[in-house]
Amino acid sequence: MSDTVDLDNAVAEVNDWVYEEVHSIEDIDAATDFELKHTPNVVLEEMGSGQLLRVSIGLKGITHPQTEEHFIEWIRVFDGTEPVGERLFGPGEEPVAVFEIERSSNQIAVQSLCNLHGVWEARL
Ligand SMILES: [Fe+2]
Repeated sequence: MSDTVDLDNAVAEVNDWVYEEVHSIEDIDAATDFELKHTPNVVLEEMGSGQLLRVSIGLKGITHPQTEEHFIEWIRVFDGTEPVGERLFGPGEEPVAVFEIERSSNQIAVQSLCNLHGVWEARL
């Protein structure tokens, strides 16, 4: 019997969460509708020792479609580089989620994946 951790497998699982190309908006005033509709909108609430993140996809009222051909597949939350939450969506399911996190770094990142247009990120 062994209770050692399979480090290779653990690293592989974390690497599944790391994408080489992550899009984000640099200047919100210059953002295109294409950029706005993919970017996570995050409302943060302090809650006891942690925080509540209310996430939807799209900024400035521009929302992303959720059809068979074109949809948001997931929303993920990172505390620093640590993955701390994930919700999955399919066509017809509104991509909204609430996450309760115990923040341990000073950088929270929320990402979404569009099946056609890749990963989009908002940092708090
Ligand atoms: Fe898209």
